[in-house]
Amino acid sequence: MTMPKMKKKVVDAFAPAAHLTSAEEATGTDRFDDVYTEHRIGKVSDIVADGNHAFVLKSEGKGCLRIECWNDDTIRFRFTVGKAGRDFSYARAEGVQPAGEGKLTEGKDKYTIETATLNIAIGREDGAITIYDRASGAILHKTQDSLYGRSTLLEGVHQVRLQFETDKKEAFYGLGDKAWDTNLQGSEWSNYTEDAFAYGKDRKLLYRSIPFCYGLRNGHAYGLFLDNSYRSHFDFNAKKKGVATIWADGGDFDYYFINGPGLTEVATRYHQLTGTPELPPLWAMGFHQCRWSYYPEQRVRDLAASFRSKKIPCDAIYLDIDYMDGYRCFTWNKEYFPDPKKMIGDLKKDGFHTVVMIDPGIRVDEDYHVYADGVEKDVFCKRGSGEPMVGPVWPPECVWPDYTNPKVRDWWGPLYKELYNEQGVSGFWNDMNEPAMFKVNNLTFPDDVRHDYDGAPTNHKKAHNIYGMQMTRASYDGLKALQPAKRPFLLGRASFSGGQRYAALWTGDNIASWEHLQIANRQCLRLAISGYSLVGTDIGGFVDNPTPEMMTRWLQLAVFHPVMRVHSMGNNTDGAAEAEAEEVKKAEELNRQDQEPWVHGKEATKHNRKAIEMRYQLLPYLYTAFRQHVKTGKPVLRNLFFYDQEDPQCRKFGDQFFYGDDLLVCPVLTEGAKSLQVYLPKGEWYDFWSGEFHIGGKRLRVKTKADRIPLFVRAGATLPTVDVVQNTAEMHKLRDLELSIFAAKNGESQLYWDAGEGYGHDAGQYTLRTYKMNRLGKKLSLTQTIEGDFNASFKRAQIRFVGLTQPPTKVVVDGRKQTAGIFYGKRAVVINVPFDFKSIVIS
Ligand code: NOJ
Repeated sequence: MTMPKMKKKVVDAFAPAAHLTSAEEATGTDRFDDVYTEHRIGKVSDIVADGNHAFVLKSEGKGCLRIECWNDDTIRFRFTVGKAGRDFSYARAEGVQPAGEGKLTEGKDKYTIETATLNIAIGREDGAITIYDRASGAILHKTQDSLYGRSTLLEGVHQVRLQFETDKKEAFYGLGDKAWDTNLQGSEWSNYTEDAFAYGKDRKLLYRSIPFCYGLRNGHAYGLFLDNSYRSHFDFNAKKKGVATIWADGGDFDYYFINGPGLTEVATRYHQLTGTPELPPLWAMGFHQCRWSYYPEQRVRDLAASFRSKKIPCDAIYLDIDYMDGYRCFTWNKEYFPDPKKMIGDLKKDGFHTVVMIDPGIRVDEDYHVYADGVEKDVFCKRGSGEPMVGPVWPPECVWPDYTNPKVRDWWGPLYKELYNEQGVSGFWNDMNEPAMFKVNNLTFPDDVRHDYDGAPTNHKKAHNIYGMQMTRASYDGLKALQPAKRPFLLGRASFSGGQRYAALWTGDNIASWEHLQIANRQCLRLAISGYSLVGTDIGGFVDNPTPEMMTRWLQLAVFHPVMRVHSMGNNTDGAAEAEAEEVKKAEELNRQDQEPWVHGKEATKHNRKAIEMRYQLLPYLYTAFRQHVKTGKPVLRNLFFYDQEDPQCRKFGDQFFYGDDLLVCPVLTEGAKSLQVYLPKGEWYDFWSGEFHIGGKRLRVKTKADRIPLFVRAGATLPTVDVVQNTAEMHKLRDLELSIFAAKNGESQLYWDAGEGYGHDAGQYTLRTYKMNRLGKKLSLTQTIEGDFNASFKRAQIRFVGLTQPPTKVVVDGRKQTAGIFYGKRAVVINVPFDFKSIVIS
């Protein structure tokens, strides 16, 4: 007997919830849980141009769509339920305006807007959008019918949505700090900033909300950025086959289609829209040591002395919450730190910058000036009822400034004055700004809390995701106003798209495990391609203790993460109550879970020192790469597939990455690894350690060593390095800089250098040196051109030629034959020349 075929029930995952009744059904006098209305564009009757760049749809439906050409490759679609309100964005960088042009034509079934590179077709029947690459005619983006919105009588707009066609082969990247595999195809994620203590790889909500993703389809890359601060969701083919869905729990569906074709082009266009950070002070790119918490003063002094006596370079020491008086921000615990100014001054003399934590939760205490003044100035968040929003974080009762109010941001900035201007603190660390709240499963404020939202008052549902970002903005602007000649250094936790303009990020409360070492790398890479190049992780893991090998591997990896900071939770527990905090303090004295680079014995210390020294040796290169990011928006860290998005192998080797243009990093992420399979993409490469030459497009098994990770240099690169120093201030006293020339037919690299602090570079106090290489037979020439006039301490360059097939017999520097100062090593030839040389020819 054949069984009757069961018809598979197709469930529409995006259908209205069962308790909702549609407005069409709810026509009589009956009552319902809630009644919803759907908003679609419907039949388009006309498209009206607003200037050369903007187009407004006239349609039958209950949705409104405005299309703007920000440039030829960045197109904004703003879908609004009902009439469009004010055009406001926290994500967009100040002053960026739509500057593109589109040509509108009317066809039988569709309207078309044409830019130099794209054709944007709008279906007459339903307002569906199809974007074509003009050159190839390929479809780059095709919505499944109209953009969509749903509102209910009780909740108002509660879903706005885009569905677009995709297939299994399409790869999706981005979305900020998700700890998941690099390619997000087949998975679903949400964005709602959350205090994610000891998160796992699959945790849906983490500290950041970055609603920006890349698609890579048939070799063509594009980006989608949803500029909406409500909780948002990205489903990449998970619920519905062949369809990707992006939706938000309110607001407009305001999204940008960012064309490639290259992934890097998408990244730089995203940065044009959302901004890049300023160049950080050089010391911020040195090695930093942190712990929850270093106290009292003597312990901090001993720590600093240990770095110097053990000859492990270090630029910054962080003070976590225990430096405060009873968790009151902007105060000191005078028992632990009787004279902070003196301590900070002494540390600075020894080359250490002090960074302290500032939380958003302000202790409720009438006798505490920040609280009392804040109450008087009415700066704290209130509930929908008008009562103050009071809740527990470190103090049992806190209130939180509403940083979405410009007046409150102006009030907040000057609070840093004593620490920054008078006591000499160099940088700040804004924590718990999701905003995190203890004791409730919700981990944060209830939805009804009110926010100013820069003059358009709203609830927490809309303001939650930008709260942390606005805190860092208030801090950053405050620091700049307090010391305009200094580059602020701020490390933040929660953020939203565009927050890269204000603060560096660290990935939060990770775990000392091998899996987390891999996650750490993935998160930094994902954050970098999502707008945040100034990123790092808690090296060694925040929760639990690393093994010596794990700690070393983490440090070796973090040489190539722009923020290189060790942090651990010591003896603390998550959300320690004040009573418990006393116990923790006792435990801290007796049972220190130390994570400094020397705690794992002689051998490990040697390797750790070597890793940190390498960071300092490479700083001229790392700083140059960062400057390139600031100027162009090209991410500092880039997955291999950013180098060659057509090569499937580049997508397979997800842990390898580029730091800048010339260094290809292959981290060791597993325990006891004896060897590592690496992939060298097309091109020519040199092994950084051995100088061995390789033709790319091949896998390579490399023997691993305990004191290094495999590292390759692009042939044609000129790599600047310096001698080991103990802190970045010493770097400005060095007279020699080494330039390693990795021989190739031709090549170009740059070296950027400036005072490492301040804004002299805006007035030309920098040098950008461009090195060009040419090789023909035995003859290799290197030229240098110099832009800017910073007077660096470097006077000599040691030129190290790597990859010569035979030693040169003739060396000509700036047209003159040189005979002295040439050293013939086994793998390289070194020539000493003046730092400002113009040309070197060897043959
Ligand atoms: C949570 C942060 O993520 C962590 O880095 C810090 O040590 C603790 N708060 C204590 O301030």
